[in-house]
Amino acid sequence: MNNRAIGIGLLGMGVVGSEVARNLLQQAERLEKQVGRTLALRRVAVRDPGRHRDLSLPAALLTADPNAVIGDSSVHVVVELMGGLHPAGDCIRAALSQRKHVVTANKEVIAAYGPELTRLAEEHEVNLLFEASVGGGIPIIGPLRKDLLANHVSSIHAIINGTTNYILTRMSQEGASFQAALRQAQELGYAEANPANDVEGADAAYKLAILSSLAFHTPVTGSDVYREGISKLSAVDFRYARELGYAIKLLAIARQEDGAVSLRVHPCLLPADQLLAKVDGVFNAIEVEGDLVGKVVFHGRGAGPKPTASAVLGDIIEAARSFAEGRKPARSGSVSHALRVMPMDDLCTQYYFRVTVADRAGVLAKIATVLGDLSISIASVIQKASDAASQTAELVIMTHPAREAHVQQAIRHMQALDVVREVSSVIRVEARG
Ligand code: HSE
Repeated sequence: MNNRAIGIGLLGMGVVGSEVARNLLQQAERLEKQVGRTLALRRVAVRDPGRHRDLSLPAALLTADPNAVIGDSSVHVVVELMGGLHPAGDCIRAALSQRKHVVTANKEVIAAYGPELTRLAEEHEVNLLFEASVGGGIPIIGPLRKDLLANHVSSIHAIINGTTNYILTRMSQEGASFQAALRQAQELGYAEANPANDVEGADAAYKLAILSSLAFHTPVTGSDVYREGISKLSAVDFRYARELGYAIKLLAIARQEDGAVSLRVHPCLLPADQLLAKVDGVFNAIEVEGDLVGKVVFHGRGAGPKPTASAVLGDIIEAARSFAEGRKPARSGSVSHALRVMPMDDLCTQYYFRVTVADRAGVLAKIATVLGDLSISIASVIQKASDAASQTAELVIMTHPAREAHVQQAIRHMQALDVVREVSSVIRVEARG
């Protein structure tokens, strides 16, 4: 054994863990050149050490006990790739408390406990690095922690869930229904058998909380993020949106204004000529706007073993370097100005409504009255398909900026009108910026 080697302990060996282990073994020379010391994979915790794996490791390295990895005195950097809150959160806590540098891809843990774990890492003078927790291989945590620090960040607009972006792309390009596009995503391995975490926006909410905590220097968690998923979107909305010059994307949006931060994940109409509107398939993109830098966009593969391993290995190199040099990790900066989380009711934005109504005189006037009474100003109304058999028509209404609370009230009032069959869709619109 090379005593000068830096010991790496791995918790979890799923697809990302295997890719990280493979690179540690097969690209050892490349990694050593970057660190100046050998990186030695010393222990690996897996659920079932007896199971056959494509990447075969010496049996002595494997254990079912994460604490055997964390507590191993020859392990200097603990790499947590188990996923999920439990027991991963406790493992990270234990590793930091034992002065081990920690690298993780775990968005749930960082979204829930990021500020607490960062304090623990600082207290023990070790690194807690989590580049892979948002956007897979896209460098975004590093830039927020360093390159953009001099900015006052006003907003983040992001497509940070590849599964939903794939589904929305299929719906938009092929006119597929949500269910058909989801099935395609599952067949290709992009969506899980239980896709709820992705399609209901929870995954994107975790990631937005992580980005926002760093960008706005304020501790926010996944539960501070308002979220709506994509399962209620219908193929016809994509057609109408396109006719109006928009794409539909699941956007994660954070905005800092007047001492508050608004945090939301929901489907959005986005002007088709904007960069984010052109991000298709499983790709992710994050746009950050700062007072000095203006708008910057980070784009690339947001998931998959190789891109995620790229981010994890980059963090391992950073942790190993600071261990090798015996240097204290850079302090994370102040999170003292805790910003208020703006209630969703206070949001002011534009809206797209698709309303199915009775096809007769006076209907539009009744709807306009409901909206007008709540100070919702109409930007345009288009009557779409009318159905002679049911004597109904579809109205597509675009509004000027209006308050969310008023819009929710208007939906209830419209639904109560005898001429309204259904408020079929309500989608927020991100204006040209
Ligand atoms: N499930 C995530 C996505 C990838 O679809 O983007 C892991 O964060």
